[in-house]
Amino acid sequence: MKIQIINGPNLNLLGKREPGIYGNRGFEAYFDELKERYPNIELEYFQSNHEGSMIDKIHEVGFTYDGIVLNAGAYTHTSVALLDALKAVQTPAIEVHISNVHQREEFRHKSLISAGCKGVICGFGLDSYRLAIEAIINLKTL
Ligand code: DQA
Repeated sequence: MKIQIINGPNLNLLGKREPGIYGNRGFEAYFDELKERYPNIELEYFQSNHEGSMIDKIHEVGFTYDGIVLNAGAYTHTSVALLDALKAVQTPAIEVHISNVHQREEFRHKSLISAGCKGVICGFGLDSYRLAIEAIINLKTL
């Protein structure tokens, strides 16, 4: 099984960025933990601050991988292009957020990408990513 994790803008600063909201752990250390936890899954991690690069990655994996775990960061709330990319490919995507966006500013309550995703997980800190992997595993065994 192959799963691609895609993190969008500013998520390269996890651990340093607003730790009260996003915690004080960098993603790389957490990703190593995920790989140890799922030795039988080919897990890949990609981060970009650029919308087009994220779209390119969705196209690249979207016909061969079993799942995409996507934290699109602020593009969640603005990007029709990401929605279209998710709709264009076959691989199911799970939308993920570290924070509970519904407890935050109103502009974060609306996601433009949810309609292109199989489901949404938010508010569980970094554990949101593990829950999304579990969701993809369950999709495959349903
Ligand atoms: C986020 C929530 C978004 O609103 C925000 O722009 C982010 C991170 C989250 O993981 O909680 O960059 O996607």
